[in-house]
Amino acid sequence: MPSFKLNVNNKDYSVDVDAQMPLLWVIRDFVGLKGTKYGCGISQCGACTVHLDGTPIRSCMTPVSQAAGKKITTIEGAEGNISEAVQKAWIELQVPQCGYCQSGQVMSAVALLKNNKKPTDADIDAAMQGNLCRCGTYMRIRQAIHRAAELI
Ligand code: FES
Ligand code: FES
Repeated sequence: MPSFKLNVNNKDYSVDVDAQMPLLWVIRDFVGLKGTKYGCGISQCGACTVHLDGTPIRSCMTPVSQAAGKKITTIEGAEGNISEAVQKAWIELQVPQCGYCQSGQVMSAVALLKNNKKPTDADIDAAMQGNLCRCGTYMRIRQAIHRAAELI
């Protein structure tokens, strides 16, 4: 088994796994962080969204070998003024219902606000379209992103 050096939430890890193992598996089962969720496993739902060097990616379809040597951020490591504003807005507007999709939603919202401090509804819909919510919290997600933009 090859060994991969990963940096997750500013901590270094070394994992001996197959190069093709999805990053999601490694985050959950080897690093032990369970906040990132498995939804579809085929890049269709966004539940597994993490940041790789600041860019949102689907960790269910990203082989661990592609993440080695890069900065991986999961929901547990979402910090800084934008992440805090998003989390505050999420609580204020009581966005989650069952909560299963929400760590992925938050990671995508943070990435959007990093690149666009005042997104329009259309910007939000475009950035969030890959994050599905079976509970239909889309309206509250949109409102919470606008609220987070005010809080930054
Ligand atoms: S679990 Fe990765 S996109 Fe659905
Ligand atoms: S809050 Fe239940 S799937 Fe989104």
